[in-house]
Amino acid sequence: MLDVVAVSAGYEAKTNVISDVSVRVGDGEIVTVLGPNGAGKSTLMRVIMGMLSPGSGEVRLGGKPLTGLSTRQIVRRGIALCPERRHLFPAMTVQDNLRLGAYSRPERTGVRQDMDRLTEMFPVLGKKRRLAAGVLSGGEQQMLTIARALMGRPKLLLLDEPSLGLAPILVETVAREIKSINADGLSVLLVEQNAHIALDIAARAYVLEGGRVVLEGSAAELTGDDKVRAAYLGLA
Ligand SMILES: Nc1ncnc2c1ncn2[C@@H]1O[C@H](COP(=O)(O)OP(=O)(O)OP(=O)(O)O)[C@@H](O)[C@H]1O
Ligand SMILES: [Mg+2]
Repeated sequence: MLDVVAVSAGYEAKTNVISDVSVRVGDGEIVTVLGPNGAGKSTLMRVIMGMLSPGSGEVRLGGKPLTGLSTRQIVRRGIALCPERRHLFPAMTVQDNLRLGAYSRPERTGVRQDMDRLTEMFPVLGKKRRLAAGVLSGGEQQMLTIARALMGRPKLLLLDEPSLGLAPILVETVAREIKSINADGLSVLLVEQNAHIALDIAARAYVLEGGRVVLEGSAAELTGDDKVRAAYLGLA
C-alpha cells in the first residue's frame, strides 16, 4: 500500500527534521509511529500528503511514486489526512463539513449513503448534524474530523494524534472506531502520544526519535521492548 523509502525532509528554517526515514503500511494494516514531541511525526505525515517535498527519498502508493503530485492529486489517489489540530470549518454545520470531505467524489448517491453510514457509526454526529461544527465538544470535533476524512473513501487514512485532548473514555471510542474502519479494509497510519492505545490497535510500529527510525517491529515486540516500556508506556 504505502512505502516511504529513505525520506529526508525539513523546513527552510530547519532543514534536517527527518532523515532517511523508511516506513511501510501493508494492505489493510494499522501501523503506528511513536516518538517524543518534535521527533518529526507530523513532518512525515506532511511529506506523505505532498504538503512538504522531501529533500531525498520517495513515497509510493501501490508501487507508484507520489513524488511531485499536489496534495489534491494525492487525496484523489486515495490518501486522507486527519491533521493534529482539527481543521474543521467551525461556522459550517456538521453535515456540510462532512459533505466537504467528499468534494473530490462526483457521484452523489454514494456520498449520501456514506453520510448515513458514518452518522450511524458516530451517532452523535447524526444527532448534531445541523449544528455548527464549532459548538461541538473537542471529542465530537475529533470524530467529525475522522468522519470527514472517511467521506472521501480513502484507501489509506493518516491519523495525527487522534486522541489529543480527549477524555479517556473518548480515546477508547475513537480507538474502537479506528479498528472497525480498519476491519472494513482501510489501511491506517497512526501517530499517537498515547502509546498504550496505539500499540493495542496497531499490527506494527516504528519509533521515531530525532527524525530517525530508531526501532521498528510488530506491536507485540515493541510492547515487550525495555526501552519502549520505559519511555513510552511508563512501565518499569
Ligand atoms: N513549519 C515549520 N517550520 C520550521 N520548523 C518546523 C515547522 N514545523 C515543524 N518544525 C520543526 O520540525 C521538528 C519536528 O516537528 P513535528 O511537528 O514534525 O514533530 P512531531 O513529532 O509531530 O511533534 P509533536 O509530537 O509535538 O506533534 C520540530 O523541531 C519543529 O519545531
Ligand atoms: Mg505532531
